[in-house]
Amino acid sequence: MISRISTAHRSYRLARPIASLAMVVAIGFGLLAGTSVAQEQSKSSMPPKVKQIMDSTDCLSCHRVDMKVVGPAFAEVAKRYANSPGALQKLVKKVKDGGAGNWGNLPMPAHPQLSDAQIETLVKWILSLSKAPVEVKKPVAAQAKRYTYKLPDGKVVSLSFPVFTTDSKVTKTIFLGWEKFNSYCFRCHGADASGSEYAPDLRQSLNGGMKKEEFIATMMEGRPDKGMPKWAGFFDPDDAEQIYEYVKARSVGILSAGRPND
Ligand code: HEC
Ligand code: HEC
Repeated sequence: MISRISTAHRSYRLARPIASLAMVVAIGFGLLAGTSVAQEQSKSSMPPKVKQIMDSTDCLSCHRVDMKVVGPAFAEVAKRYANSPGALQKLVKKVKDGGAGNWGNLPMPAHPQLSDAQIETLVKWILSLSKAPVEVKKPVAAQAKRYTYKLPDGKVVSLSFPVFTTDSKVTKTIFLGWEKFNSYCFRCHGADASGSEYAPDLRQSLNGGMKKEEFIATMMEGRPDKGMPKWAGFFDPDDAEQIYEYVKARSVGILSAGRPND
């Protein structure tokens, strides 16, 4: 499971009633939150039947064809099972019941809302990707480039993404991250990600050692038993990147309070 760095010994007041309302709205809007160019491209290569099921469920919050997100790249899944008899049945069961262990410790959630036939359509398509192999890209954080900034107090911070485009304006990614955080996370995680009685200070989570991967996985999977909603099915990997970069920039103290300049 996901390590619980800063919240292990605290419990938060459940903010559930409004949370479930928010999630109903969220599910109603499906992936409208901001489907990315990359996801649109991989969707345009899907047969209509596959695309229709994908649009109705949450796979593309955690998976991309050509890059690991929370779950493995679908192209890697296809490669691993290319010559493995029984893969179709095995993977259908896995998507239905969920579970961890084949690619790492993070669990895939169960999908009881999909029929076996729907899951089979998805898995057949995933397995078919082995016939036309695509290049699997490295996650952004694993790329070598660093961006270094000097804070007013003289402290120097180094990040894997840019925060500013000019002296005072933030990047589009950071600005969109702020907008999404303020619409969807602020209510529990507080102004400027500083925490509230409902949820922890996410700056502290990152400063305490939570990695980007864990942050995004926690966000997508949620911890329903602890009052942290699941966002898979609502956000795509680009949305998650924006929110992560915004909170990470907050955690190193590089943004002043409130709305950043765009
Ligand atoms: C909340 C994130 C999340 C969502 C949503 C999600 N997955 Fe996954 N998926 C994962 C993770 C994590 C793994 C790796 C599990 C493991 O290590 O055994 C995975 C693994 C897989 C695998 C490989 C399984 C194996 O045992 O090798 C397939 C196939 C797959 N997912 C398909 C899907 C499909 C189809 C959907 C939508 C119906 C979906 N996933 C939705 C996170 C997710
Ligand atoms: C309804 C309230 C609520 C909302 C809305 C909410 N969270 Fe949470 N979140 C929580 C709670 C409660 C926890 C602590 C769970 C625990 O105790 O393990 C948490 C924990 C987390 C953690 C793990 C922190 C740690 O130190 O372990 C991350 C990351 C996170 N939330 C991200 C987000 C993001 C990003 C959003 C917005 C998209 C969001 N949350 C929206 C309630 C919420």
